[in-house]
Amino acid sequence: MIVSTYAPILLALGVLGGSVGHGGHCSTENDHLDMFTHKFMSDCTDSAFCTAPNGTCEARNCRRDEYPFGYSVDTSLPPLCAHGSFCPDEGDGCRVLVPLGGPCQLERDEQCSEPENWMELASPYNANGSICIQSTCMYANATLGQTCVTDNTTYVELGPDGNPYTIVVSRDNCRTPYFYCDATQGVCSRSLPWGSPCSADRECEQHNCVTGICADSPETPLRVPAWQCALTILSILGAMAATCIFLTIVHKRQRFEQYTELRDYYYEQMSYRNDIIALHAAAADKITREKGAHAPR
Ligand SMILES: *[C@@H]1O[C@H](CO)[C@@H](O)[C@H](O)[C@H]1NC(C)=O
Ligand SMILES: *[C@@H]1O[C@H](CO)[C@@H](O)[C@H](O)[C@H]1NC(C)=O
Ligand SMILES: *[C@@H]1O[C@H](CO)[C@@H](O)[C@H](O)[C@H]1NC(C)=O
Ligand SMILES: *[C@@H]1O[C@H](CO)[C@@H](O)[C@H](O)[C@H]1NC(C)=O
Repeated sequence: MIVSTYAPILLALGVLGGSVGHGGHCSTENDHLDMFTHKFMSDCTDSAFCTAPNGTCEARNCRRDEYPFGYSVDTSLPPLCAHGSFCPDEGDGCRVLVPLGGPCQLERDEQCSEPENWMELASPYNANGSICIQSTCMYANATLGQTCVTDNTTYVELGPDGNPYTIVVSRDNCRTPYFYCDATQGVCSRSLPWGSPCSADRECEQHNCVTGICADSPETPLRVPAWQCALTILSILGAMAATCIFLTIVHKRQRFEQYTELRDYYYEQMSYRNDIIALHAAAADKITREKGAHAPR
């Protein structure tokens, strides 16, 4: 299979650019895209470009990414290109945008000049309504039933487990996300709604085909159903009420115990008092009687 044949080559190539340092000898004839990752490769390292067919490696004059590949933290980066221009893969300098039908580099939609109605055509799957398909600048403006062009690119990457895996990226000039290019008929079809059977991500409105069914895209926020919200609220209220009732019962019981304790104490005190009074009365009575008996008549 693909995987076992590619593995040694992939490991040998890696993804780093060439090895010739700044000022070294190079040839632009060796400029190419890596056959697995489609990354731009030349004789020069990732921070340099080759000046001519028989030239030298020189520091790049522009960069495309905010954080480009191949620079250490403390080196100063070449500038980004101003609006209306782009930095090509080589990085030799900013160029003006390519008009409709002109040549562009693989999946570099932002190299193409934007259509007048770019605000309507712009989507996450193109650059301001322009798209680079089969190395040609196009507008992503084909609608239902119009002929369209598809571009398939196969990427082979090393997975986290060290095994290579392939990804096929299919792009077309239909107006996204409303339409996609039906490869069998070569015309734009309406994108499939959530839950429809699908065979590729781009067929779905959400651009996510999971095991043959159009699904929500992975970044979709989780939507909690109303009944789950209601159940959660009821559970919280129920727990609060149960706690209140429990505390009230415990408090009442404590008060009752305290009350009986106090009542018993008073009863006991009363009975002591009565006993003492009875004792005193009896003693007084006895003394009176004895006095009466011995008194001279
Ligand atoms: C490139 O330069 C080398 C010497 O620097 C020379 O021998 C060779 O012929 C040149 N090749 C081309 C295609 O100009
Ligand atoms: C799209 O156009 C706007 C305004 O013209 C610009 O600021 C933005 O950078 C463009 N985006 C791309 C991806 O070219
Ligand atoms: C798409 O844009 C091209 C170039 O402007 C134009 O010729 C074509 O008619 C447009 N297609 C649609 C459906 O608007
Ligand atoms: C692109 O790939 C799809 C399947 O994903 C296939 O149906 C179509 O024919 C391919 N198109 C080209 C131009 O290779």
